[in-house]
Amino acid sequence: MKKALIIYGSTTGNTEDMAGMVKAELEQLEFEAEVKDVTQAQVGDLTAEHDLLLLGCPAYGDDEIELQEDFADFYEKLNGLKLDGKPFAVFAPGDSTYEHFCGSVDMLEEKMGELGGKLVTDGLKIDGDPGDASGEIADWTKSITSLL
Ligand SMILES: Cc1cc2nc3c(=O)[nH]c(=O)nc-3n(C[C@H](O)[C@H](O)[C@H](O)COP(=O)(O)O)c2cc1C
Repeated sequence: MKKALIIYGSTTGNTEDMAGMVKAELEQLEFEAEVKDVTQAQVGDLTAEHDLLLLGCPAYGDDEIELQEDFADFYEKLNGLKLDGKPFAVFAPGDSTYEHFCGSVDMLEEKMGELGGKLVTDGLKIDGDPGDASGEIADWTKSITSLL
């Protein structure tokens, strides 16, 4: 059974909901999926033995891209980490009225790439309530597993 780790940061619960939806879909696809709130995660979790790493983090900036506050703390600790081709993808709920719609996704993709991670597929950016996008979230998750 392939293993996936989902690490998310969430202030008002949308990313947490999305992480749960991704987990449920992965389990349908016979993956073993673990979900961790980023406040409970260690940097070393990113290099543990998982076939897939999924990061969920919304943007909380205005003119600039800012990561959700718990994720920002985690991000600060990533320098020097070697991901050695670890497959990863990023997801977020957001609000397209902001200048940088889900800018956190782009920021994390860039950072993880610099650390040597292998981006499996373009990040999933959901405008508004993830509960209204369950089909899109399931399709994105499915597409990742078919690319591994
Ligand atoms: C102060 C503030 C700044 C935000 N900035 C952005 C942004 O730059 N881009 C974006 O797409 N959404 C932005 N949002 C919307 C949140 O990312 C969105 O509500 C998201 O669903 C929150 O996720 P959470 O419930 O997991 O915390 C912002 C929201 C607030 C309150």
